Amino acid sequence: MKIWLDGGLRDIESARVSVLDHGLTVGDGIFETVKAAGGKPFALTRHLNRLTRSARGLGLPDPDHDEVRRACAAVLEANPMPLGRLRITYTGGHGPLGSDRGDQGPTLVVALGATTRRPDSTAVVTVPWTRNERGALTGLKTTSYAENVVALARAHEHGASEALFANTVGQLCEGTGSNVFVVLDGEIHTPPLASGCLAGITRELAVEWTGARETDLPLDVLERADEVFLTSTLRDIQAVHRVDGREPAGAPGPVTAKAMRIFDERAGDDLDP
Ligand SMILES: Cc1ncc(COP(=O)(O)O)c(C=O)c1O
Repeated sequence: MKIWLDGGLRDIESARVSVLDHGLTVGDGIFETVKAAGGKPFALTRHLNRLTRSARGLGLPDPDHDEVRRACAAVLEANPMPLGRLRITYTGGHGPLGSDRGDQGPTLVVALGATTRRPDSTAVVTVPWTRNERGALTGLKTTSYAENVVALARAHEHGASEALFANTVGQLCEGTGSNVFVVLDGEIHTPPLASGCLAGITRELAVEWTGARETDLPLDVLERADEVFLTSTLRDIQAVHRVDGREPAGAPGPVTAKAMRIFDERAGDDLDP
């Protein structure tokens, strides 16, 4: 397996980042996860644009899109696989032990892992911890993801594949690695970015392609929604058949099933929408 590290392809076994990398010591880094089917990345331009937005939010230098594209192409070519999770990581680089950043420049890693297509439906749980809609990192895809590690472990303990958070004022926000949509009276709604959720690329495409509305929703909308679905890079649109103890009828319900069809069609028509 070959990965890209700081300017070239390396063997994953021997590639090394400093133990003083600020991404390791304080989580000072950002990332993107890109789906790659048949060696081709999906929606790479949108992912690169979000990478730049996250970099600016953290005060990291703008990533060089040409270099990241070259890195992605090289890693995909070196590791052929049917379905891959392409992971771009960009950190503050070698630095002091505290929160001040060093001046040796960022670290760029592009790695690839094999994955399989997700099931069409899944179970989720709500968790008691909150997303902060007013934090310095709100809306940025940073490597400070340990809250998601804890919440996802809780989901797995309950036989679910995702945990959903409310924000500090009790509104529905997002999952550990996905955005959430609900169907109410035949209409699709998803929390607005002001809820503190990540601007998911799949969310953005689903809103554009299905006409879903961005609506402030209380967490307990999950108890009465006719249908619930998740979106993420590796889930695309995925129906939810259980929320905590409740099982919405017939997941995927009719509105979700139609959204899934539309998404598959549109994504199949254009690899970089
Ligand atoms: C916290 C969080 N929310 C939402 C998403 C979904 O975003 P995307 O559709 O860009 O994968 C992710 C991505 O994995 C995420 O980490």
